[in-house]
Amino acid sequence: MTKDRKLIFAGNWKMNKTVAEALDLVRGLKIELANIKEADIVVCPPFTALSEVSKAILDSNIRLGAQDMSPNNVGAFTGEIAAVMLKEFSVRYVILGHSERRQYQKESDELIAKKAAASHAASLKPIVCVGETLSERDGGNTQQVLETQIRGSLAGLNKDQMTETIIAYEPVWAIGTGKTATSDQAEEAHRFIRQLLGQVFDETVARKVRIQYGGSVKPSNARELMSQPDVDGALVGGASLESRSFADIIKNSIG
Ligand code: 13P
Repeated sequence: MTKDRKLIFAGNWKMNKTVAEALDLVRGLKIELANIKEADIVVCPPFTALSEVSKAILDSNIRLGAQDMSPNNVGAFTGEIAAVMLKEFSVRYVILGHSERRQYQKESDELIAKKAAASHAASLKPIVCVGETLSERDGGNTQQVLETQIRGSLAGLNKDQMTETIIAYEPVWAIGTGKTATSDQAEEAHRFIRQLLGQVFDETVARKVRIQYGGSVKPSNARELMSQPDVDGALVGGASLESRSFADIIKNSIG
């Protein structure tokens, strides 16, 4: 299957892996993924492992992402990490507005938009997460929720910045539950998001933006999901914590 957009697979390790465990995982990934050029491959370890993982992947096709960042550049923001600090470790991507942060840290679309602007100012590519809860889906509100999140979380980006932004559609009910969206459900949401990007930005931008699917992606369902015309990769949680399963997701998708 050929698509204009290069597939991008990112492993969101969440709050898992000590430095030693992270290095173990990366060692395995470098072997498993050594010859893959057809897709962009990103790992997003916890902040504490960025330094060592950064060194370990220097000579590989694996790129580094962070799981969050501050909207501010410097100053009295206890516990926060600025983009410039991530850049010290050659971080290229940053996940923003993950549903777990929306839920537990009460992150708003407005805050996420500020972070997205700050990430672009530092030449980091944001992976902006959107997705509906089960009750929102059951209530028939999926598109309305996605529209609010897309308009709000990407507010203020110019067309060039939007083109360099990755969107991750992660239905909250599919995250860590083993319950994957069907490929039809995923495609419907991705198509809707792309159409919306066409309205908010323009058709050229909409055609170029990569939209990942996230939520219980596994080696067994990756190929079917990636075969959908508007699905351009995956943001993987649980299955990215083990080198074989993350590698198989990628290999099955491109093979
Ligand atoms: P799972 O792959 O564990 O469902 O997690 C998805 C996710 O939240 C990635 O950001």
